[in-house]
Amino acid sequence: MLNSENALITMKGIHKSFPGVQALEDVDFNLRREEIHALVGENGAGKSTLIKVLTGVEKPDKGMITLDGKEIQIKSTQHAQEIGISTVYQEVNLCPNLTVAENIFIGREPHKLGCVDWKTMNQNAGQIMKSLDVDIDVTRALGSFSVAIQQMTAIARALIISSARILILDEPTSSLDAHETSQLFAVMRKLKKDGMSIIFITHFLDQVYEVTDRITVLRNGKLVGTYETATLPRLDLITKMIGRSLTEFEDMTKTKLESSKHIRGDALLKARDLGQMGAIEPFDLELHAGEVVGLAGLLGSGRSELAALLFGTEKPDFGTLTISEKAVTDFSPLASINRGIGLCPEDRKAEGIVDDLSIRENIILAMQASRGWLRYLPVQKQYEIAEHFIKLLNIVTPSADQLVKNLSGGNQQKVILARWLAINPQVLILDEPTRGIDVGAKAEIQKLVLSLAEDGKACVFISSELDEVLRTSHRIVVLREREKINEFSGEVEEHKIMQAMAGSEV
Ligand SMILES: Nc1ncnc2c1ncn2[C@@H]1O[C@H](COP(=O)(O)OP(=O)(O)OP(=O)(O)O)[C@@H](O)[C@H]1O
Ligand SMILES: [Mg+2]
Repeated sequence: MLNSENALITMKGIHKSFPGVQALEDVDFNLRREEIHALVGENGAGKSTLIKVLTGVEKPDKGMITLDGKEIQIKSTQHAQEIGISTVYQEVNLCPNLTVAENIFIGREPHKLGCVDWKTMNQNAGQIMKSLDVDIDVTRALGSFSVAIQQMTAIARALIISSARILILDEPTSSLDAHETSQLFAVMRKLKKDGMSIIFITHFLDQVYEVTDRITVLRNGKLVGTYETATLPRLDLITKMIGRSLTEFEDMTKTKLESSKHIRGDALLKARDLGQMGAIEPFDLELHAGEVVGLAGLLGSGRSELAALLFGTEKPDFGTLTISEKAVTDFSPLASINRGIGLCPEDRKAEGIVDDLSIRENIILAMQASRGWLRYLPVQKQYEIAEHFIKLLNIVTPSADQLVKNLSGGNQQKVILARWLAINPQVLILDEPTRGIDVGAKAEIQKLVLSLAEDGKACVFISSELDEVLRTSHRIVVLREREKINEFSGEVEEHKIMQAMAGSEV
């Protein structure tokens, strides 16, 4: 099964533990020349840790690594780069204030006569972004671009290392839309043809089957096995990942649009001609108790902008918003929280997680803000709430006091979700709540959203994955080019919605 023939890199018997966590236990892994190798497993399985051992970020407690058949100790990230290992980490660490070009070349700027050669740098940056099919002004600040462009910038940065022969991509596609993902795959295939070996971490199984040659599965820090992609049936892969079969998720495979079971209660929120100049054209929207409304649209179609107006992160230039029969005049997140509205944001790094606080402190943050900081939530109560959500969302951690920065990416996402569930809002807006979440936990979150509706809440569910929108929503609003285009309910075929998203209705 594990064939290390022709292996460029092998890792043998790797162990790594953190206080209270055995992140890796006796893991073997090998990467062949000119292959794309998927590394998969549930949130907290140890994928990122294995990568960090390979790139010199973490030292293994035990184990051996060989490159070209010779044993090596990877001492630092610098050292990893020197031997040709180039990485795009899950948490992109770029500087939003610097330009795209500066971000690509930081630390490796071209020089001329002892000074940074800005012209060459910008030209080269422009070229490499074009080769990734991204045509933008690379002299603009990175922060002014979408998460997707930022992700492409991180990839460009990894590719400029001329000696790179191993490229590691840790969930690079979680913020990319279908088109951008296929562009990235084209780039990956080209790099493979040019002799590069690629390790690709993703939670999207379609992508695993589309682009990889082999698959290594980790579960609870242990190796399950390495398989040829072409001969491993998808259901077997899922079973290997989660350690049980997927039958218990089967009831999630039907769409909710035609389900007549749900009861549509009173309107909790009404938007009339609500809009913001340059962000979203005026739209009408009603949210009723007991329903999940999905927002479908391509990246940049205005989904997050619509959500920002409903929640008050942004102020409208037009229209009215009525919540529980009262017209809203003060638009602010805090006022919204107090009116019973929650928004779980898309970008957990920028708007969500506080790295240096514990899980408990992160979870109670919105709740504490709504009480006011003078009415401090008793610590005992904080623990109760945190423990409740750790259990409910299956957050992998030794304790509620763990710093959030020590959690795996998917578990951090669950902490943010917990923060908004904790305020028990009447209307909950979820912007990409399952990004970076593994297959099993994804189904759990979708179920949870539906159960909130059953309890008489209203949810807005935003996701780039149309099948998940279809599975969870009673009604689907389609946005395109910052405008609400259509609403669908009842029996609708998926391709009708896709046509509306793409702008090719018949
Ligand atoms: N610096 C650290 N301190 C303490 N625990 C850590 C640290 N880094 C990782 N862990 C723990 O090690 C385990 C494996 O984490 P890892 O990030 O490798 O998971 P992952 O497979 O990448 O998950 P995800 O799909 O959510 O990104 C988790 O339980 C995580 O909380
Ligand atoms: Mg990870």
